[in-house]
Amino acid sequence: MSFEEKDEVKSKNPSVSSDEMDWDAYAEHYDEMCALNPAYQNNIELLLKRIPIWNMPANAKVCDLGAGTGNYICSLSALLPEADFVHVDFDTKMNELATQKYSQLEKPNVQIVQEYAQRIEFPKQSFDLVMCVNALYAISPQLEVLQKIRSWIKPGGRLFIIDFGRKQKTLEWTLYILRESLKSNTLGRYAKTLIDAREVLKQNRRSTKGQITGRYWLHSTNQFGETLRQCGFLVEELFPCYRGYADLAVCRVSE
Ligand SMILES: C[S@@+](CC[C@H](N)C(=O)[O-])C[C@H]1O[C@@H](n2cnc3c(N)ncnc32)[C@H](O)[C@@H]1O
Repeated sequence: MSFEEKDEVKSKNPSVSSDEMDWDAYAEHYDEMCALNPAYQNNIELLLKRIPIWNMPANAKVCDLGAGTGNYICSLSALLPEADFVHVDFDTKMNELATQKYSQLEKPNVQIVQEYAQRIEFPKQSFDLVMCVNALYAISPQLEVLQKIRSWIKPGGRLFIIDFGRKQKTLEWTLYILRESLKSNTLGRYAKTLIDAREVLKQNRRSTKGQITGRYWLHSTNQFGETLRQCGFLVEELFPCYRGYADLAVCRVSE
């Protein structure tokens, strides 16, 4: 029996196909794996260090699309305590975990919207900033979704987007996290997590399969930039990140 066949048999949720991430199952282990992954923390830093130079209003309206367990909103709320946040994600478990974290915030100004990004609508020019981190690859058709996102952003506002666009190499990532755990003496924690989190490896294999079948968008940095320009964004910054597996773009909507 191949890995893929085993996955299909073991999948707890029969409505999730074998080339699709089961986000509910992933959610339970997501934060543990993020904590062991310095590249994940680095992505958050890439956002945080741009906030002071963007000169956003204190009461900014910020939307996080595919917001997962809420790590980006939690980090940002420390810098923008008066901002209003909208968290959009369709996955129940991710949203439950995010809700718990938001309730611990000093000023929990977060509205959680449980919906598919493809279905959700906001009035035009609602947000000063939209973030979308490692979610767009799973949200097709990407062009239409990006056009919709652009319409939600106020003139002069920004899109901060990171997207996993290269072929997923599960073994290479596992070895990376092991190496990093050794450096920071968290190997014991990683070993335990690996035993607990076979689900994560399983989900990563599903994502690889989804890339092969075309369910998940693969792109080069140039293709990513072109797609954003095609949707009317002014691309201020564009470079590969997340160990070369993803691209980061900062885009502006013209005034
Ligand atoms: C890899 S996680 C990233 C989460 C978060 N942005 C972060 O970086 O920690 C991708 C998230 O996108 C969400 N997602 C995937 N497809 C979606 C869709 N069509 N609409 C809304 N959310 C979606 C998943 O539920 C998951 O929480």
